[in-house]
Amino acid sequence: MKFIVCENHSHLAEVISDLIIQQVMSKPDSVICIPTGGTPIPAYQRLIEKSKNIDYSRVSFFNLDEYIGLPPTHEQSYQNFLKKHVLDPLGIALSQQHLLRSDSPDPILECLRNDAEIDYFGGFDLMLDGIGENGHIAFNEPSDHFEARTHIADISTSTRLANARFFDSLDEVPHQAISVGFEDIIKAKHLILMATGSRKASVIERLVTESTISCDFPISFLRMHPNVTLVLDKAACGRSIDVLINTGQSL
Ligand code: PGA
Repeated sequence: MKFIVCENHSHLAEVISDLIIQQVMSKPDSVICIPTGGTPIPAYQRLIEKSKNIDYSRVSFFNLDEYIGLPPTHEQSYQNFLKKHVLDPLGIALSQQHLLRSDSPDPILECLRNDAEIDYFGGFDLMLDGIGENGHIAFNEPSDHFEARTHIADISTSTRLANARFFDSLDEVPHQAISVGFEDIIKAKHLILMATGSRKASVIERLVTESTISCDFPISFLRMHPNVTLVLDKAACGRSIDVLINTGQSL
């Protein structure tokens, strides 16, 4: 695991947007899986600002996960979020947007459709993801098993509480979501994880100091991934900051 320690959230946005651009410049037909959440928004803003001369016409975009049951026009539908914050401003054609549907009449079929599309494109060249306060990755929540492929996930109470800030009330936060699984995460050629703020410090400390892999701490699975870059701001490093700065790249 490679670490990059940034000064703050806006600095992290610079680093993440540069990494995405480097990926597209080195492989113009890249298959990229992108996240929602509060962490990537400034990175998407910087990406849009820096992309005037970048050709995205052959890039395919997927998303990591999607709530079940929200209308696609809902502010918190992840499809809507990604279109608004990054895909439409970058001018990504609909044919390049391979997004999960929140209103699919048959979520199991939607999972199978997503797997078939991922397979058709040969998996992800780059997967970008935030980190949940409970160690989840996408909607792979702490559990007693790992899911390999796209699946229906029960959203934990802690994640519903964390995400309630994006809704008018906790009651509005869906109880289920569709999420990519660990097989597609581990097969991504490059996985970039990002975390900012002291809310993430305890999960980062645990990731850095423990060495076990366990489904009750899903992010621990990434210890098996051969090419992970963890991009953090100083607040997210918590008490591990010295270790991270010494073993990683401090920008
Ligand atoms: P956040 O969410 O970027 O809003 O902190 C990350 C996550 O829950 O995976």
